[in-house]
Amino acid sequence: MKEAPKSFLMQFHPSEPTPDEFVENLIQFQKLMMMYNCAIREVKTKLEVLNDELSLDSKRNPIEYIQSRVKKPVSIVQKLQRRGLPLSLESVIAHLNDVAGIRVVCSFVDDIYHIAEMLTRQDDVRLIQVKDYIQNPKPNGYRSYHLIVEIPVFFSNKKQPLRVEVQIRTMAMDFWASLEHKMKYKKSDPNAALLVNELRECAEVIAQTDRKMMELRKRID
Ligand code: GTP
Ligand code: MG
Repeated sequence: MKEAPKSFLMQFHPSEPTPDEFVENLIQFQKLMMMYNCAIREVKTKLEVLNDELSLDSKRNPIEYIQSRVKKPVSIVQKLQRRGLPLSLESVIAHLNDVAGIRVVCSFVDDIYHIAEMLTRQDDVRLIQVKDYIQNPKPNGYRSYHLIVEIPVFFSNKKQPLRVEVQIRTMAMDFWASLEHKMKYKKSDPNAALLVNELRECAEVIAQTDRKMMELRKRID
């Protein structure tokens, strides 16, 4: 049988969009990323307001700095595929909690809990999930306080609730996590177990220093 021309086949391939549909999909994706960027701005502003107010009260900034990022398209697709979820914008909104990510780096451990409490107490912030890796460090020693919050973002014709992952940690915890993240050792490496042990020891030393610094600050408060 004579093979049909490729363009003919593509025209009837159910998953192949027309150029107009393709452009429309790209625009919708761009819109969604814009919405997540707005959600980041909203949460960031809330955190900055808290930092400004607290710095007047205590004469020091509990927040050292804030970083943020929107997840890369390829990571979004990989995560949906890994979890067997549909590749659609609705699926991103419904199932992914970390498309919008904020990292808050605090001075002292008690600042972390204070900031988290004040953020989640606000009546337009819906708390979806808390993971306290400070009270319960990961087996590798990772420490941080993770929140998933949902906030409404107001656009021209709708109010869109969006989720944001907020990681709150001290400078010392951030130092450890940043370096650990860079060490892309293979789990199969014969030295991996030793490396993991030593990294955990470093995390414990750091945690002890964090506790000590907090005690010192309390003595001069
Ligand atoms: P993901 O599917 O990777 O998003 O993880 P999860 O849904 O199980 O959430 P979890 O709260 O455990 O981790 C979320 C994020 O915290 C990660 O994407 C990292 O940014 C950070 N994180 C978690 N564990 C570690 C770790 O062991 N080392 C470092 N450096 N970062 C970590
Ligand atoms: Mg993640």
